[in-house]
Amino acid sequence: MDNSDETACLFPPPDRLRNESHVKSMDDYKEMYKRSVEDPEGFWGDIAKQFYWVSPPTGKFVDYNFDCRKGRISIKWMEGAKTNICFNAIDRHVNNGQGDKIAFFWEGNDPADHDSGNITYSQLKDKISKFANILKQCGIKKGDRVAIYMPMIVELTVAMLACARLGIIHSIVFAGFSAESLADRILDGQCCAIVTADGVWRGSKLLNLKSIVDVALEICSKRDHKISHCFIVKHLLPKGHSVQENGDYVDYPEEIPAKRPTRSLKINWTDGRDIWWHDVMGTASTDCEPEWMDAEDPLFMLYTSGSTGKPKGVLHTVGGYMLYSATTFKYAFDYQPDDIYWCTADVGWITGHTYVAYGPLNNGATSIIFEGTPFYPDAGRFWAIIEKYKVTKFYTAPTAIRSLMRYGDEYVTKYDRSSLKVLATVGEPINPEAWLWYHNVVGNKQCAIVDTFWQTETGGHTITPLPGATPTKPGSATFPFFGIVPVIMSDEGVEITDPNIEGYLVFEQPWPGLMRTVYGDHERYETTYFKKFPGYYCTGDGAKRDEDGYIWVTGRIDDMVNVSGHLLSTAEIESALVEHPTVAEAAVVSHPHKIKGECTYCFVTLKEGKEFSDALKKELMERVRKKIGPFAQPDFVQNAPGLPKTRSGKIMRRVLRKIAVGDKNVGDITTMADETVIDKLFQLRPPEA
Ligand code: WTA
Repeated sequence: MDNSDETACLFPPPDRLRNESHVKSMDDYKEMYKRSVEDPEGFWGDIAKQFYWVSPPTGKFVDYNFDCRKGRISIKWMEGAKTNICFNAIDRHVNNGQGDKIAFFWEGNDPADHDSGNITYSQLKDKISKFANILKQCGIKKGDRVAIYMPMIVELTVAMLACARLGIIHSIVFAGFSAESLADRILDGQCCAIVTADGVWRGSKLLNLKSIVDVALEICSKRDHKISHCFIVKHLLPKGHSVQENGDYVDYPEEIPAKRPTRSLKINWTDGRDIWWHDVMGTASTDCEPEWMDAEDPLFMLYTSGSTGKPKGVLHTVGGYMLYSATTFKYAFDYQPDDIYWCTADVGWITGHTYVAYGPLNNGATSIIFEGTPFYPDAGRFWAIIEKYKVTKFYTAPTAIRSLMRYGDEYVTKYDRSSLKVLATVGEPINPEAWLWYHNVVGNKQCAIVDTFWQTETGGHTITPLPGATPTKPGSATFPFFGIVPVIMSDEGVEITDPNIEGYLVFEQPWPGLMRTVYGDHERYETTYFKKFPGYYCTGDGAKRDEDGYIWVTGRIDDMVNVSGHLLSTAEIESALVEHPTVAEAAVVSHPHKIKGECTYCFVTLKEGKEFSDALKKELMERVRKKIGPFAQPDFVQNAPGLPKTRSGKIMRRVLRKIAVGDKNVGDITTMADETVIDKLFQLRPPEA
């Protein structure tokens, strides 16, 4: 397909959005934007008025030091003001007569699983209050950390909001992470309890979540950390089914619908620690006064890959995150009260935190929580769900779009998508071909395409079109959101103003949703984000501006790889590889991939006398999978008798990236210690790469 004409096009906002949208033109956007950056107190202060506060800020509305040369980095919005994000997300709507509005439609992995999955704001309030009371009875209190390792079910949002109601810091770990990764996160956050489920079906795969948690807790106790309570949602068994708890395990044999492979799920039980969620929820009270929190109290931590290999616990606070998640949701999706909104991200990632839970709920929206995958039972599932619920705003990842494109248009066109108005993406740059397919086929040329650039650290969108205002270009995230001042910076720290020159994407001043610290390691926060360019927050991504001022994000500049929209640290994969007894050294680089965007390509140097083989290759791939999680499995592992290094011993990754793609033009190698390794590596390159 030749899209060259279309890729150069400017796509105006769809006419039918202009009339109803919050921001109707670029002039309106520019005016609001100007105020947001020149008068943040006025701009965010007006927004704050729409929320419930027990008391106003005690000091300045915003107070910060963004420059590490002037002292510690510190960011405070509305310090001293008292509020509760759970109260604002739930009770506020119930109190405004919106209690019967659906908060979530739950759509299960199997299309037949959907019954009784809907929950209203009042019902959600009752469940959250009950679970908060249970946490309280267990002695868990404000400031404590609770880990959450759950499938995409309503109880996940109940658990997170119950924590928020009491000021307990939730640390959600995506339920695709391995037991070791989960243990590392529990230990780093010193969590005192965990919430999980018995298991979950993902497509045709059955995952025993409880057994993964058991292994993780075992690792923790070996490292002298005990979890006092493990709450388990009984998700796989139909309601009303009684479970025999004879001794140490419960067997789930029979209830699996015929379509799925039958397999039993064994649940090991640790008395005194393990608690069935439904056992305690039944009798708990639905009355629970929220804990009134300082705007700057921590709300949650969420781990993201770090370039040193150790994940960073990104910490967000109550007030700023509340304002930012709600406001970005409202404007970037142009939220309207009658919308049916669906974000396909898992709550275990930041996209799910901000745009499945906090953003939509703080706007009183109706959304969908989807447990399954885009391919089950077939590649039409997304579009079937859109037809079924008459989805108006849809948010997914470019990798999903690219993989669904391959199945052909019929999977899309056989479903009614006329309800759709906004089609958004997140997680990685979207290639123009996928953008155009999303626009032309999925959206039938009737929808605004919204490519949102942001990070776990930024709390919400930072560069994004606004559906009713911004003319879009396929592949560009367009312009900054309110409060964001992007600068393109050269490696030497000089601002690049010429068009089409790539540099580092940095932001000049804080916005309410920016992370406040790395949990337990403020110094790492300062070094990672504020050292390279004093006075700026450094995203770690490259970007350029075109002659019309549109921003094009080009991808990570550091040693991070974005696989299917998930950031992975090459150092973390390398450390998993070198733990194998035959591996002496490993170097991992990114490699382009048609569907995933990027994938990882691993060079391994074996110890003396060890042989490289297909079996070893498989074992190494399996090791990374087990250590980090299935989504981190490398695509390529190649034998590397030697690695290209500088004379000072630094691995030359740019040379490895060239070798990985078979490009003989490896660039300047004058600083290299031994040039002969390059030929050798080209010879050993696997033919499939
Ligand atoms: C990448 C996900 C280009 C980027 C919300 C960033 C993107 C990292 C886009 C953050 C986009 C995210 N265009 N790149 N629209 N969105 N990225 O923390 O490299 O999981 O730094 O947050 O994803 O990933 P994270």
